[in-house]
Amino acid sequence: MMIPLFKTHELKDDASKGIEVSGKSLFAVRKNGEIYLYWNRCPHIGTPLDWEEDKFLDADNALIQCATHGALFEIDSGRCLVGPCRGKHLQPVAFELADGVVSVAEASLRRA
Ligand code: FES
Repeated sequence: MMIPLFKTHELKDDASKGIEVSGKSLFAVRKNGEIYLYWNRCPHIGTPLDWEEDKFLDADNALIQCATHGALFEIDSGRCLVGPCRGKHLQPVAFELADGVVSVAEASLRRA
């Protein structure tokens, strides 16, 4: 079964959004029209990346930033470029985009 998360028009370019679904925490980023979806879990010590609601990006909206120790991640690959988890990756979540709605398979949420 697919679980709808949000409509694409709810996430503007250069913005990010936290998503709670089935007791799991994810976040989405939109950059150059593309949408990226990750588990909200820093590869450093496993904490959520955000301190403020829907704030996952650095001041330039160029990189994903972990609020705990400031690690910076590439938006498209999830790779940590700077910080204590350098070289590690955020875990992406597979999603479907249909009729302007981003959805995930229930089964893919059960795994983590
Ligand atoms: S928990 Fe994210 S950088 Fe330490």
